[in-house]
Amino acid sequence: MKKTFLWGAAINGSQFEGDYITDGKGISEDDVMPKSKDRRHKRYYEIQKNLFYPTHEGVRFYRYWEEDLKRARDLGLKSLRISIQWTRIFPKGIEEEPNEAGLKYYENIIDRLIEYKIEPLITICHNEKPIYLIKNYGEWSKLFVESYVKYCKVIFNRFGNKVKYWLQINEFNALSLRMIKEDIDENELRSKRQEAYQSLHNQFVAQARAKELFSKLVPNGMIGVCMAAELCYPATCKPLDNLQQINDERRLNYLFLDVSIKGEYPYYCKKFFSDMNISIQMTQEEKELLKNNTADFIGFTYYFTLISDYEINKKYHWHYWPKGENEYLEQTKWGWTIDPLGLRIYLNKLYDRYNVPLMIVENGLGHVDSIEDGKIHDTYRIEYLRDHIVQVLNAIDDGVDVLGYFVWSLLDGWSLGTGEISKRYGLIYVDLQNDGSGSYNRYIKDSYNWYKEVILSNGDICRR
Ligand code: BG6
Repeated sequence: MKKTFLWGAAINGSQFEGDYITDGKGISEDDVMPKSKDRRHKRYYEIQKNLFYPTHEGVRFYRYWEEDLKRARDLGLKSLRISIQWTRIFPKGIEEEPNEAGLKYYENIIDRLIEYKIEPLITICHNEKPIYLIKNYGEWSKLFVESYVKYCKVIFNRFGNKVKYWLQINEFNALSLRMIKEDIDENELRSKRQEAYQSLHNQFVAQARAKELFSKLVPNGMIGVCMAAELCYPATCKPLDNLQQINDERRLNYLFLDVSIKGEYPYYCKKFFSDMNISIQMTQEEKELLKNNTADFIGFTYYFTLISDYEINKKYHWHYWPKGENEYLEQTKWGWTIDPLGLRIYLNKLYDRYNVPLMIVENGLGHVDSIEDGKIHDTYRIEYLRDHIVQVLNAIDDGVDVLGYFVWSLLDGWSLGTGEISKRYGLIYVDLQNDGSGSYNRYIKDSYNWYKEVILSNGDICRR
């Protein structure tokens, strides 16, 4: 096991910082998402009265970052994944000059991490796009892409000499496609698909342009794409289920990575786009840009695996996640399968296909925790993390180049999917309830102390 392995933990801006309009910050897409069960499938544009918005207070990392970073240092973390909130730097996305207060805030954090010998991993966009840009330019339109590139230039110039590892758009394979549900009529579905894939193309272009800049401004750095792992198993050994699985994995994973890592649209896209009635506007210049500016590594979040069942999915040919039950796996309270071995499989599949370094930038268990006398005995989380880390170590033994593993999350934060705090992932407990009441006090969980030992032993204690 390399000594340089990045034992990490992750947080982001929107789910943790709070202070959503402090020091000149603008409103982001996450700031207009109220707490509700299906909030991820809707597009919101405004803050409405009498609704609860988890990002507005977050867990107050913006105020308490100094003490939270001390806890990260005491944990022995080798790396902390944070995101820069675009709206702290360009509140609407269209300003000529960046907001110095926002830059200074992140600079202080980065400097402190370096002082603590914790390597920063920065996500450029973790569900934090300026709502002004979305409303006025359209999400990932050409003008939107210009603003993204301008934002990247500012943060590469400012932090590029301090930060080696960067990620572009969080889970970019999942975001736009999740918005499409199949219970709409065929015409609307067609136009949504068209919109989603054109927007995806523009995201490829945005990321390639950012990479082009990065190579000039941060020559010693590494910048990756960030995927949500969507490993699919065939429901049975029926050939049709196997074909379904190949197509699901292409649709959910490989299409994104083939373009980002190999630099061009794969051969199977032609038929896929024509079957779906999609036509992408793409210039020769863009094709060259994609070819010449591929990502340095693949970062991915890993939470669950999926089933490809031909019989079920032929009815739902456009559902983002294939529908199908895996009888061999247990699920969390939120219905996410628990599949440590799938992590080893996914790492091997990606390395086999792309042969670039990989990074697990999020993995963790959402669970209700109870606190007694200031203590949280989260043995279930320790078990979950251990089982997954064992499979990372196995994949490394298989020969896969893994740069690091990041626990989601360093401390409890608001769930992205549901807007609840009770779906807790943290190694550190935050005293808060779903209605926003609580003291914001932090308490160390048993999993924190356990992960500290994992880091100290460079993973060895998981092998026993
Ligand atoms: C990932 C996101 O999808 O999963 C995080 O990058 C998110 O932002 C995490 O919090 C867990 O999902 P959820 O919906 O349980 O918060």
